Amino acid sequence: MQVTIMGLGYIGLPTAALIAGKGIHVHGVDVNKKVVDTINQGRIHIIEPDLEGLVHYAVLKKFLVASTKVKAADVFLIAVPTPLRKNRTPDLSYVEKATKAVIPHLKAGNLFIIESTSPVGTTEKMSRIIFRERPELKNKISIAYCPERVLPGSVIYELQQNDRVIGGIDESGTKAAAEFYSKFVRGQLHLTNSRTAEMCKLVENAYRDVNIAFANELSIICDKAGIDVNELAELASKHPRVKILRPGPGVGGHCIAVDPYFIVDSFPSEANIIRLARETNNYKVEWVMGKIEESVKKFRKSKGKEPLIACMGLAYKPDIDDLRESPSLEIFRRLEKSKYKVIAVEPNVRKHPDLEITDTLRAVREADIIVFLVSHREFSTVSPGMDKTVLDFCGITYSNKNS
Ligand SMILES: NC(=O)c1ccc[n+]([C@@H]2O[C@H](COP(=O)([O-])OP(=O)(O)OC[C@H]3O[C@@H](n4cnc5c(N)ncnc54)[C@H](O)[C@@H]3O)[C@@H](O)[C@H]2O)c1
Repeated sequence: MQVTIMGLGYIGLPTAALIAGKGIHVHGVDVNKKVVDTINQGRIHIIEPDLEGLVHYAVLKKFLVASTKVKAADVFLIAVPTPLRKNRTPDLSYVEKATKAVIPHLKAGNLFIIESTSPVGTTEKMSRIIFRERPELKNKISIAYCPERVLPGSVIYELQQNDRVIGGIDESGTKAAAEFYSKFVRGQLHLTNSRTAEMCKLVENAYRDVNIAFANELSIICDKAGIDVNELAELASKHPRVKILRPGPGVGGHCIAVDPYFIVDSFPSEANIIRLARETNNYKVEWVMGKIEESVKKFRKSKGKEPLIACMGLAYKPDIDDLRESPSLEIFRRLEKSKYKVIAVEPNVRKHPDLEITDTLRAVREADIIVFLVSHREFSTVSPGMDKTVLDFCGITYSNKNS
């Protein structure tokens, strides 16, 4: 069997390496020549534990070859980006380009799978593009959608162990894709149609976004009511059927903060709670900014000088180094842009091309206003002096007090 994977990023490369590790020949295609060259040297261009060894082995054994050119195969798998445009509508141009690049190489008996997170109907849309150019392949190839739900940092483990939802544009597509995934997935394969599989991925992240928005809204209400939202969430969650998440400074990363917009764009009149959750989580950044500015004004008035602000944590969630779409980084950048005296603390990032990272202890010693944005493990032992103003937007002081 020969598999061609379009897009060798966070999803495509680990998938390629895993499949190649099973002794299947994988032809990885990427439009970025630097990515292709790096992989062909047995090295990787992304950070993911255990991936480099797998890639190195697969390249050495010639089961994985990267290229900028597409080649005939039995299975074509699309793992290219599906970003949001500035107006928050999904940009499907990468999927379309990758599909069009594959079309001349398709032949009867092939399987075509999309893994990129996509709006409902994308797989059917790509199949229409395929059959418009190659009508002779109608009913001769299998087409399916299979979303990816791996956690960065555990991708190699989760690619094999997670359950997968597989949906063909027809039953033969579902069946052919299920047979393919059974070669390297140990989790259960749940079979459906392509529209349900597409929506399933979007709904998983919208569900999480709505639950985070509930916690974030509560945090704003509790601040007004003089209640510690973290204590409240803990107490309310003692109810056997209630589980309230902890609030934070917003929602980041490239999935939860993005995927719900795909539903909102397709169903603008119906997706009300989903849209409101996005708005609530985006608004949390404004609210946090307002709280910091309020604190700065108070400090200036009482001390007659400009305070030094320490932003504790820049990543989009605890204990990782990923700064993509991070609300904490946005808060730091905004403070910096508004000419506040501000320093950044991010224990998971040692070096950054355009960020000066300050050591945790030094920041806590020197700053006047300490703003906890991410509850990193490293901050659990930090105890700012009584003379400091502490603003906690991630509940770490509550956890430290109660651990
Ligand atoms: N990263 C994750 O944790 C994650 C999780 C679930 C789903 N997804 C989804 O998977 C898809 C891929 O995400 P990613 O994180 O791997 O993206 P990525 O940006 O890390 O990698 C995508 C790669 O595709 C390449 N590419 C772009 N156009 C191409 C084309 N026409 N032909 C060949 N290669 C092309 C890019 O150069 C890049 O190397 C997206 O839809 C994303 O939403 C990602």
